[in-house]
Amino acid sequence: MCAKKKKHTHDNSHITYQSLLEGNKKFIKNHLKIDPEYFEKLASGQNPPVLWIGCADSRVPANQITNTAPGEIFVHRNIANMVIHTDMSMLSVLDYAVNVLQVRHVIVTGHYGCGGVIAAISNKEFGLIDNWLRHIKDIYRVHADELDNIKDENQRCDRLVELNVIENAYNLCKTSIVQNAWKNGQLLSVHGWVYSIRTGIITDMKVSTSNNDKLDDVFKFK
Ligand code: CO
Repeated sequence: MCAKKKKHTHDNSHITYQSLLEGNKKFIKNHLKIDPEYFEKLASGQNPPVLWIGCADSRVPANQITNTAPGEIFVHRNIANMVIHTDMSMLSVLDYAVNVLQVRHVIVTGHYGCGGVIAAISNKEFGLIDNWLRHIKDIYRVHADELDNIKDENQRCDRLVELNVIENAYNLCKTSIVQNAWKNGQLLSVHGWVYSIRTGIITDMKVSTSNNDKLDDVFKFK
């Protein structure tokens, strides 16, 4: 799952600047055919019950892989689906999703074969992005005993993908945004998922939580 060589990369030669605009026309036509009021309804507002924090990877689009439609999932994506405490973009999305949209679920979704994790597990230098990937190396350090014992490189990488999701789900729980929601009795669950690009299957990492019981004491706001 961690293969470095691309063998059968999807042929995207038909995607051009113009084809995107043509695609938009088809999208409008198809939706209006099913429901003439489709866009009017969407324009009246959004009420998504889910916030998705996923990887920017083009193969992991939140809506398509969960069979959901526009209006159903609020989305934040970055390289390797990270929840970094000083990331104002992520925090703003989280704050808006939890406090204004009042989502019921926040899901961190990683994926096997994640380029960000593969890069982080290597000893290569990639430039600016190394500063972002450092957070993944920090997760490796915390779980080094387990990871160093996995001899197969692909398996080790897959496990780091899973641990990265689990740690970032906990990072969400550590935010004052999520803890205050719980303190105020808001129904909010945090989850961690890993998607397989090879099979299309989502695996639940079973770290779902709706209170701060699992957090180390130092992270709890009381
Ligand atoms: Co990725």
